[in-house]
This record gives sequence, C-alpha cells and structure tokens, in this order.
Amino acid sequence: MTISSSTTATSATVLNGNAFAAQIKAEVAEDVKVLAAQGIRPGLAAVLVGAVPASQIYVRSKVRTCEQLGLYSDLITPPESVTTEEMLELVARLNAREDIDGILIQLPLPAHVNTKRLLEAVLPEKDVDGFHPVNVGRLQSGQPALAPCTPAGIVEILKRANLPVAGQNAVVLGRSDIVGKPAAMLLLQQNATVTICHSKTRDIASFTRNADILVAAIGRPGYVTPQMVKPGATLIDVGINRIHDRQLFDEFFPGTHPDDAARAEMFASKGHTIVGDIHPRAFELAGAYTPVPGGVGPLTIAMLMANTVRAAKLRRGLL
Ligand code: GUN
Repeated sequence: MTISSSTTATSATVLNGNAFAAQIKAEVAEDVKVLAAQGIRPGLAAVLVGAVPASQIYVRSKVRTCEQLGLYSDLITPPESVTTEEMLELVARLNAREDIDGILIQLPLPAHVNTKRLLEAVLPEKDVDGFHPVNVGRLQSGQPALAPCTPAGIVEILKRANLPVAGQNAVVLGRSDIVGKPAAMLLLQQNATVTICHSKTRDIASFTRNADILVAAIGRPGYVTPQMVKPGATLIDVGINRIHDRQLFDEFFPGTHPDDAARAEMFASKGHTIVGDIHPRAFELAGAYTPVPGGVGPLTIAMLMANTVRAAKLRRGLL
C-alpha cells in the first residue's frame, strides 16, 4: 500500500505519521489474528511510576492501542515512593510471567530509583523498548535486535515513503540513548553516512547544511532555521515542544503561510501549540518532512506494538 502524501505550497512532501502508523498497526492486528489462531496472545506489561502527567498520557495511549489491536496488556502503577529493590522484584516477576512478552518501564523514573539497574534487569527478549545493553550491542553490531521505538519509527517512515538512505549524508542532532544514538545506528545500518551533532559540536550549521537527511532530537523549539537546511533535504523532526508565549507563537507562525491560520485557531482555543525542533519555515525548503504534531510521534506507539508481537514470536521460535 502506498500512502498518499499532501504537498505544501512549496511542494515539500509531508510525511504523514498518522497514516504510516495506521498502516503499521493494521499489519500488527493481522499478525495478532494469525497468532490467535495458534493460541498465542502477545502481552505487554506497562509500568508507570508515580503521576507524571505526560507519562500518564503516553502509557494510557500505549495500553489503549494494545486493546485496539488485540494484544493483552497489564498496566502496573507503583507509587512515586517505590524503591529500586521493589521495582527489581516487579521486573523479576514480569520476566517470569508466561503471558508477558514485552516489558515497558515508562521513563523518566523518580530520581531515587536506579534507572540503569532496572533497565538491565529486564530480560533482553522482553525488552520492547530496546534499552537493554544487550539490545544496544546487538543493534550496534548489526545483529537482529529489538530497536528503540522512536528511531525504529523514523526508519519505517523513510522506508515506507521510498526515500533513499544508502549513501546519503544523514545528520542526527542529539545523542540521547532513547533517540539520537539508536537513530544514528539504524541509519548507519542502512548505509547512510552518519554524523551525530550535540551540544559541544562546533558550527552545527556547517554539518546540517550538508545533510540529505536531518534528524532533529534535541528538545529546542525551532532550533533548525531555514539557513541551516540543504534545499530538498528530508527533515525528520522528533521534537515535541509546547509553546505558550504569544510572541514566540507569532515568530513561528506569522500568518504568511496557508497553515498558519489553523495554528492560530488552535493557539487561541488551547492557549498553546506544539512545535518541533525544526522551524516551520525550514520545512518549506525540504524535499520531504515530518510535521509536528503528526509526524514521528504516532510511529512510536505503532513500533512498540510491532516490537511486542516480534518479541512474542522470537520467544516462541517463530522468527
Ligand atoms: N519516555 C519517553 N520516551 C520513552 C520511550 O520510548 N519509552 C519509555 N519507556 N519511556 C519513554
């Protein structure tokens, strides 16, 4: 199936993450049906500690998607005061459970919990986030691995949109363990020439201006300006930044672009809007780009579902 893409006034292709995510979720639902006929129901345990509002929204959405696609899910909500030892005991129980194929510990955890120890305690075979050092190592050495969901989603977008990767200059802004580093590894695996830029990089624009594929994952609203972009490049925006400030809003959406009116309506009704790490005016120079919202974001949950089904098959020797 190909996904129809809309174009902007400047003819950049909009990479519609909702459409790609729907496609992946439909494929997962099909897989789940086939497994059900064999008496197998992939199961995800989602662990949500405390009451961080953004984490609550994300985890609820993950559990709801499991229900929609026919996966089993178990939402476990330890209190904010939970200790590392109690969390380790919980992970050990989940590792041993036959009905659980994937274990997701929503990050960030409270500061008093040892995140590293916990992530290392998850069985690599159930590590659907791809955070365990064994999966990190497998990814780096090109072995089949459960890859982190957001970077895996980026690669899926490029693949499904038929955008070339091999031989392209890919620049990744940000070196986080969750997005930047694994995104760089996945792009390298597909034979891109990869550069990672970070807060200590000198003259970042000299790298980004040469990028055929630019992945921005630094959490700074509108950091990538039009002057930093190679015309025709593929721009992948992982940033999710909420802006409340009217002046900042007007700077992002001055009313000169056809999409600005819809933004202004959203801002007026909600008092905020979401922007990425790439300035909207930079998108106009792109060959293709992921909008914010509605670009990379929807892929993260879709890939979590795909990873859970994959883990269920791998654990049963079905892959
Ligand atoms: N917090 C922000 N992104 C993620 C993610 O992909 N997985 C988990 N477990 N926590 C997150």
